[in-house]
Amino acid sequence: ETDAAPVTPALPAPGTHDDATTRRAALVAEAARDHLRPRAHVTAPGGWLNDPNGVGVRDDTYHLFYQYNPDAPVHHAIHWGHLTSADLVHWRDEPIALAPEAGADEDGCWSGVLVDDDGTPTLVYSGRRDGAESACLAVGSPDLRTWRREAANPVVAGPPAGLETTAFRDHAVWREQGRWHMLIGSGVVGLGGTALHYASDDLRTWDYLGPMVTGDAADRPDEAVLDADNHAWTGTMWECVDLFDLPAPDGGVRTVLVFSAWDHGRTLHPMYLVGRRDGDRFVPEAPARLLDLGRRHFYAPQSFTDDRAGGRRVIYGWMQEARSDGACVAAGWSGVMTLPRELTLDREGRLHARPVPEVELLRGDPVPLPGGAARADQVDVVADLVLPDGGRVDVELLATPDGAERTVLSITRRGDVAEVLLDRSASSLDPTLDVVALRGGVRVDASGVLDLRVLVDRSAVEVFVAGVPLSARVYPTRPDATGLRLSASAGGEVVAARAWRLGEAFPEPRTVEGPL
Ligand code: FRU
Repeated sequence: ETDAAPVTPALPAPGTHDDATTRRAALVAEAARDHLRPRAHVTAPGGWLNDPNGVGVRDDTYHLFYQYNPDAPVHHAIHWGHLTSADLVHWRDEPIALAPEAGADEDGCWSGVLVDDDGTPTLVYSGRRDGAESACLAVGSPDLRTWRREAANPVVAGPPAGLETTAFRDHAVWREQGRWHMLIGSGVVGLGGTALHYASDDLRTWDYLGPMVTGDAADRPDEAVLDADNHAWTGTMWECVDLFDLPAPDGGVRTVLVFSAWDHGRTLHPMYLVGRRDGDRFVPEAPARLLDLGRRHFYAPQSFTDDRAGGRRVIYGWMQEARSDGACVAAGWSGVMTLPRELTLDREGRLHARPVPEVELLRGDPVPLPGGAARADQVDVVADLVLPDGGRVDVELLATPDGAERTVLSITRRGDVAEVLLDRSASSLDPTLDVVALRGGVRVDASGVLDLRVLVDRSAVEVFVAGVPLSARVYPTRPDATGLRLSASAGGEVVAARAWRLGEAFPEPRTVEGPL
């Protein structure tokens, strides 16, 4: 008679209110026990997290919504999770903002943005139903805690007639000359990835203006990048398009278009174009470049203008997992958000990203670095590197004393480019991981000096070499995989290295509240 016993006898019958609540609470508890779970970074309380959504600041509070499945660490029935912060680095869980409902978003509330519609907080997001994608709206209470769907959803029912598109989702929305403008990520078969441009007076009725710009028509091999331009293929579809202006060092302003290159279900890498607007179009000044050398580990980024802090542009990305779906299910959680980064433009039209100064609020005790070495699995390291031609610096991370597990970042100067390489081949004894090497180039000026920042937070690693970011995930199995060591060779030097222990992004216990 024991054959028929349920596998998890402690849980109530499936489909009941208590069942979902218990399951969500169990995921939160399970996720908290995983030693590979980052602490200084944003994660979901339990379950699945992907893209940052609706990032912004309102009444001195920062908001970060995210693609969320509270019921399992798999990409399914996507909700919008919600977090708030007073300082951009310490967060609290807010009630779930959106859950799929009968209608245009019944299979998922996919990515989108938060806009201020003359005082009314409004979410513009992608509804998903039976594989069809549409633009939807939800209107919020003044505290952004409760959301009501627009009765007229979807406000754009699908891609423009006559265009053979690869997909149709994700939104950039802004005001321009008294009207709303919107980009929707897409791709035109045979033409490449694109951002479809719309305009509206009221966010509800949209006129289609055409593709704002398109990417590479033909597939390009994903070759290793060894110059400072970090060009790559722009894919057959652009996810999570993001458009904004940035001041340029020449005193002018440039328009930046960020997108995530996608191809037939593969999330390739985040990219950016710098250029100018010409009417309804966007004219790039140079071919698209990688926005992060960690490629899919900084995916689907979204940015906002931080009016609380001098109008800086702040961006977050999704640090995808490199472990198997099964390993995520066993861990109870999946997905990490990067720390907030500020974007700036240099003289050559390249974007630079550096953690916002508030990240220093996460620092705890200093970690001494005698001989360049320490033991720490949650650590913030800063240093200046001096690299003559041929000079090299290595940073070993999360290493066991016997070297059986180790992740190695190397920075080697060749002429006016430094090659950055993150070697994950020995990061873990677990043979099932994605350990592909991550690499790219960074421009070196005549001084040969590069500022380095390395943030290690258990399985999440963020590296910045002179403002060029490389995000990655690594999964050491051994508890003694905490070694950190900076070393230099071939004339390279590490100057003024300092380190601090990284603290916790969530001071309060994690909670899941909201529709079941
Ligand atoms: C990017 C993405 C978006 C989509 C969302 C769904 O990672 O695929 O294009 O809106 O995630 O969760």
